[in-house]
Amino acid sequence: MTDSLRPLFLTLEGGDGVGKSTQQRLLAQWFREAGREVVETREPGGTVLGKELRELILHGGYVDPRAEALMFAADRAHHIATLVRPALERGAVVVQDRYLDSSVAYQGAARDLDVDDVRGLSLWATRGLLPDATILLDLEPESARLSGPKDRLEREGGEFHAAVRMRFLDMAAQEPERWIVIDASGTVDEVQAAIRAALSSRGLSAEPRP
Ligand code: TYD
Repeated sequence: MTDSLRPLFLTLEGGDGVGKSTQQRLLAQWFREAGREVVETREPGGTVLGKELRELILHGGYVDPRAEALMFAADRAHHIATLVRPALERGAVVVQDRYLDSSVAYQGAARDLDVDDVRGLSLWATRGLLPDATILLDLEPESARLSGPKDRLEREGGEFHAAVRMRFLDMAAQEPERWIVIDASGTVDEVQAAIRAALSSRGLSAEPRP
C-alpha cells in the first residue's frame, strides 16, 4: 500500500489543560495539507450517543467508579465501531483526542480500579484496536492551562492529577514502540514541531517519502 492510502490512527493523551486540542488541530492540518483525508475526533463525545454520555459522565452528579469506567468504555465502543473504524477502512488519518489510555490513567491508576481490568474492558469494547502512535503531551499538573468551568474530573485534587501523570509516563515507558512523549511546556509551535519530528522519525510523516 502506498503511503498516501495507508490509514493512520494517532491519539493524543495527557492531563487536563496540556494543550491537546490545539496540537490536534495543527497535526490534522499537517496531514490535510499533504492531501490526506483527516478525521479529527475525541473521547468522550465523538458521536451523537457519545455526546450524551459525555454530559452524563462529566457534568452530572456522583458516578460510581465502575459505572464511570463502563460509561467511558461504552462511548469508546460506539465511537470506534461507527466512526473510527469506517474512517480507517477508507484510508483516512484519524487524529483523536484521548483514547483507552485515558481510561487506564484516570479510572485505573487514579480511581483505584484494577489497571488490567480497565484496559481489558476497553480492548473488549474496541475489539483490540490500538493506535499506530500515541502522543503523550507531558506537563506537570501545576502548569496546566485550565480555562472555563471545570468538569467533574478536572475538579479532582492535585494528588489525583499527579497520579494520572505518573500512570501515563509508566505506560509510555512500558510500550515505547507505540508512545511518543513530548514535553508540553514549550510554545505551541515548539510542541507541534517536536510532534512532527517524532512522527517523521518513525516513518509516520505527512510528507510522502522521497
Ligand atoms: P477532555 O475531553 O480531554 O477534556 P476537556 O474538557 O479539557 O476537553 O476529557 C474530559 C475528561 O474525561 C478529562 O478530565 C479526562 C476524562 N477521561 C477519563 O477519565 N477517562 C477516559 O477514558 C477519557 C476518554 C477521559
